[in-house]
Amino acid sequence: MPYLPPGLPEPNYDEKKVPVFTLPCPLEKADGTKITTTAEWEQFGRKATLELLQTHMYGTIPPAPEETKNEVVSEKKVFGGLGKRRHVRLTFSGKFASDITFDILVYIPNRPNAPCVTGLNFGGNHSIEEDSDIPLQDYPISDTAKERGSQHRRWIPEYILSRGYGLVTGCYEQLFCDKTDGTADSIYRLFFPAGELAKAVPGEHTAISAWSWGLIRIMDYIESCGDFDSSKVMVTGHSRLGKTSLWAGANDQRFSIIVSNNSGCGGAALTKREFGETLEIMNGIFPHWLTPQAKLDGKMPQSIKYDQNFLLSLAAPRPLAAASASEDIWADPKGEFLGLVGTNSVYRLYGYPDIAAEPVPQENESLDNGIRHYHCRAGKHDILQYDWEKYLDFAERCWE
Ligand code: GCU
Repeated sequence: MPYLPPGLPEPNYDEKKVPVFTLPCPLEKADGTKITTTAEWEQFGRKATLELLQTHMYGTIPPAPEETKNEVVSEKKVFGGLGKRRHVRLTFSGKFASDITFDILVYIPNRPNAPCVTGLNFGGNHSIEEDSDIPLQDYPISDTAKERGSQHRRWIPEYILSRGYGLVTGCYEQLFCDKTDGTADSIYRLFFPAGELAKAVPGEHTAISAWSWGLIRIMDYIESCGDFDSSKVMVTGHSRLGKTSLWAGANDQRFSIIVSNNSGCGGAALTKREFGETLEIMNGIFPHWLTPQAKLDGKMPQSIKYDQNFLLSLAAPRPLAAASASEDIWADPKGEFLGLVGTNSVYRLYGYPDIAAEPVPQENESLDNGIRHYHCRAGKHDILQYDWEKYLDFAERCWE
């Protein structure tokens, strides 16, 4: 549990104290009737759900920049020839700035037209591997910056390549430094005058939408580079970046599988359970992640007319995976599983079978009903090879 600033409520970890609530259904319309066809969902329901979440939670993801330049900084064979790693610098221009850069590492397996995984990293590209050829990133980075190679356990590019998948990653803080006052230096500089950003309150332009924007730019690169099968791109993310992968996948339907790992509050976990980290607590610690409206909603979670199953349902009818770690009670593993269960109504519209709410998968148990996957890894808040094995197995089954 991170440091709780004074004034925030203590989290509840007692299942018996979880409030009794009725989970809102994304198919329910304002007049009380329900959407019953995929056509109605796609034409109206999906859009209304997206707009609701833009206002209440994540803000609006900015459009594509006016121009993007791709510069190959380096390229070399890696892991004894398992594939190659290309360092690409994307430079974006917009109405108000032309100097926003985003460095991505592109791992390409020895196979044409490979499927591919993408996700943002904590701690800088240099934290993915020990290799000193990956430059230390020198842009302003908050205290999540990590030592060279220290995040290797979370990515294991040689494992992903050995499965025949590509991997594209960039550091989330190059898009929006993860600090309360990160807006002024963020990608929002492309779209708003500096003076306006300097006056913005935290969350007026959300960090989660800025990070999602970066994933969408990676998708543009994947489509344009010619090394991958862009119809087979799995967007992933761990923790705050799992909240981000869900939001990016909800907005951009080019992502063909959506994965959130230990995403917790504001990700896969149900807000109305008020178990572990609550929306109020999260807004109190990280006010720049979500909109001002989310701060009001966090104070009255039992009155809100949506829950995180709305966000997850925007993945439909694409394959969707959410996973927990058994000791990660801050993220509420049961709430993450029930978030996934809460997507049943939308997946059912597409003819897919339901996931039963019980039994809740326990330590090292997995559930895969063809289009949705859940597992609960034994251990702590993290993403490890165990998780990648599950996600890539799931992708393989979906893309067979
Ligand atoms: C904190 C935060 C979580 C978040 C996590 C992370 O614990 O409260 O909401 O998911 O950081 O990103 O690691």
